[in-house]
Amino acid sequence: MLSFLSVCGLILLALATAALQRWIQNRKSVPVPVSVNYHLTRKCNYECGFCFHTAKTSYILPLENAKHGLALLRKAGMQKLNFAGGEPMLYPGFVGELAKYCKDGLGLESVSIVTNGSLIKPKFFASYGKYIDIIAVSCDSFNEETNVQIGRGKGSHLEKLEELRKMCRKERVKFKLNTVVGKYNFQEDMNETITRLDPFRWKCFQVLVVAGENDSDKTLRNATRFTITDKEYQQFCDKHSHNKCFVPEPNNIMKDSYLILDEYMRFLDKGNNPSKSILEVGVDSALKAVFWDEKSFVERGGIYDWTKEGNRNPETNLDW
Ligand SMILES: *[C@@H]1O[C@H](CO)[C@@H](O)[C@H](O)[C@H]1NC(C)=O
Ligand SMILES: *[C@@H]1O[C@H](CO)[C@@H](O)[C@H](O)[C@H]1NC(C)=O
Ligand SMILES: *[C@@H]1O[C@H](CO)[C@@H](O)[C@H](O)[C@H]1NC(C)=O
Ligand SMILES: *[C@@H]1O[C@H](CO)[C@@H](O)[C@H](O)[C@H]1NC(C)=O
Ligand code: SF4
Repeated sequence: MLSFLSVCGLILLALATAALQRWIQNRKSVPVPVSVNYHLTRKCNYECGFCFHTAKTSYILPLENAKHGLALLRKAGMQKLNFAGGEPMLYPGFVGELAKYCKDGLGLESVSIVTNGSLIKPKFFASYGKYIDIIAVSCDSFNEETNVQIGRGKGSHLEKLEELRKMCRKERVKFKLNTVVGKYNFQEDMNETITRLDPFRWKCFQVLVVAGENDSDKTLRNATRFTITDKEYQQFCDKHSHNKCFVPEPNNIMKDSYLILDEYMRFLDKGNNPSKSILEVGVDSALKAVFWDEKSFVERGGIYDWTKEGNRNPETNLDW
């Protein structure tokens, strides 16, 4: 009887070990989502010619579901979260409460927001500034006419930007600028404004057109009218590279290498269908879906090779 029990015990132990091994193997094959870009809404009033994130729906998750999703991501290893859109600040309460939850509830290392800046109010900063590490503002020109040409209409952008800069100083939120350099702004001299705004980083992307994605009138955006030559981009860089904050990005590929969650918390996968929502299937399973798709996409001879810089290794992508 005793030996029967010990045989049973041994079998159980063997089974448990095998299961554990399988579990470890499984964990290994799924990358850790250290840095996540959460596009909580597609809603945006603008029609920037170079935007690939066009407003098809105005869905936004209920706050509690979004919190649950972020908790799942945290468990899976997330350390940094970036709120993006559309325009995330169309929903200041949502963003603020989630930022607070990320810091107080989940202990995230870094929370950032990418915004056009125009909707951020002092009240938002007073309530939520302490939960936000970085605000990154997109601004392609400090000349309102140029902004109109690009499709970012309406004026007073610069004034708002200066206000926002002050609020960031006051609440000790780091201020970052993102600029897409193209036909309409590559000749602009931004030195003076950049000196005054004094961002801690100023990322300047060269406008990029991807075959089949945004080069034809059939696709939603034909961005061909924005493209510049490498020489023209270089001209812009030479004029501005002495600014300490200046960070050139010859094209937008790195940006697309970040893990992107859409408004349903599905991982996006360029050129492929998104994963299921992490709220439905969990983080690992959703991640696996996009990773598998990406591999097959590249093997099919994908449009460009975005793995060559080790892009999917989140460790190399901590920089926002
Ligand atoms: C920023 O986005 C909001 C929402 O789409 C819009 O109402 C506002 O005018 C935009 N401002 C700028 C300067 O782009
Ligand atoms: C074209 O689409 C690609 C991929 O969606 C995007 O990274 C890039 O910024 C777009 N470029 C322009 C000029 O619209
Ligand atoms: C995109 O628009 C440009 C002009 O803005 C045009 O010359 C070009 O043929 C268009 N591209 C495609 C593939 O339709
Ligand atoms: C900006 O920097 C460039 C290159 O150093 C210089 O030629 C230009 O005069 C500067 N512009 C201003 C407004 O300071
Ligand atoms: S403001 Fe942003 S989301 Fe809106 S169209 Fe322009 S690039 Fe796209």
